[in-house]
Amino acid sequence: MDGRALAPAGFTNAVSDTHTPVQAVVLVGGEGTRLRPLTLETPKPMVPIMNMPFLERTLRRIKEAGINDVILPAGYLPDAITSYFGDGSRLGLRLRYVIEDTPLGTAGALKNVEQFIDGPFFVLNGDVLTSMDLRAMLAHHREKGGIGTLHLVRVDDPSPFGVVVHDAAGRVEHFVEKPPRDEAPTNEINAGTYLLEREVLDRIPAGRPVSIEREIFPELIRSGDRPLYAYTTDDYWIDLGKPEAYLSAHRHVFEGAMPLGLTPEIDGPGRETIPSSAVRPPVFVGLGCRIAPDSVVGPYTVLGDGCTVESGAVVADSLLWDGVTVERDARIDWAIVASRARIGAGARIGHGAVIGHDAQIPPGAHVEENARVAAER
Ligand code: GTP
Repeated sequence: MDGRALAPAGFTNAVSDTHTPVQAVVLVGGEGTRLRPLTLETPKPMVPIMNMPFLERTLRRIKEAGINDVILPAGYLPDAITSYFGDGSRLGLRLRYVIEDTPLGTAGALKNVEQFIDGPFFVLNGDVLTSMDLRAMLAHHREKGGIGTLHLVRVDDPSPFGVVVHDAAGRVEHFVEKPPRDEAPTNEINAGTYLLEREVLDRIPAGRPVSIEREIFPELIRSGDRPLYAYTTDDYWIDLGKPEAYLSAHRHVFEGAMPLGLTPEIDGPGRETIPSSAVRPPVFVGLGCRIAPDSVVGPYTVLGDGCTVESGAVVADSLLWDGVTVERDARIDWAIVASRARIGAGARIGHGAVIGHDAQIPPGAHVEENARVAAER
């Protein structure tokens, strides 16, 4: 396939200005091991945020920035992604997938889609939720004229992240991976969105796994031809890679820190169906839920489509995916329950627990804090 072919009718294939068209590559090939058992059946990009696959939210954001041409390097459970999004026309996008037989890493995945890249392109980690304005980042990149621009955010504790050191003009000087908190040279971290000139692809070796953070960016700095620039913003940002972050992100959305255009208090397509005696706002309710009037749903709770919450059950601060059943008097607090799981009558689900697809928690069982429970297959 020729990536330089003309875009199909109806697609301008470009942000609407006189510059070279900008494309986007969303990295969606990771196994998402830290989110298991959720990611045993659902690849991380398809994990829902307020009942919508996270990748759909990212693609909508890309579209809103005026970008129409998106390439998705995938590899882990790719069918779940391709069957949901197809050619992208539902979102007004041109989507192309490139499936890796073995994971190529964050830079290897870019090299592998080289034939589809025509000019400068965004790279977005498929597991970052942020309100950063891609158009503003593009304007910054053009103003600076570097070989690439890295989005950075400031965090309280940089120790779990890749710290990026830059000079007063924004030129990136070096990277420090996961520094001890008291040794971190700055609290500005790599936020997982890059804008790169096409020539960066020339620096990536083909045919083997390559990391952009550990190999390519340091190499670009060493070679010193054209600088890499930092673009530090105070936008909302979270890496959804761990269950606690995934839960926290929902709370942030409910509280309005991450704007997703939700109605405060009660939102979702099933909001009319939730009995007022049960609801403790804010909640988000999917379609076709059956909720007993004497149950408690909320606060900070999402019910997917077709969930059942029986009499006396309590679901607070939690995320239930589609078709979950919570039997009478069961209690779920600060936990994630994947699709079709069943929580038996009177069971207790401990804080931070993650219950996988189709798992059956027996009546009266106590699931420990932070437990990971997968269905027996
Ligand atoms: P963990 O296994 O929990 O660390 O998650 P992960 O596999 O997704 O890795 P990580 O969070 O470091 O990945 C960051 C982003 O890069 C995610 O959007 C991944 O989907 C993506 N990614 C990581 N490795 C690869 C790869 O080899 N190929 C492709 N195409 N994408 C990748």
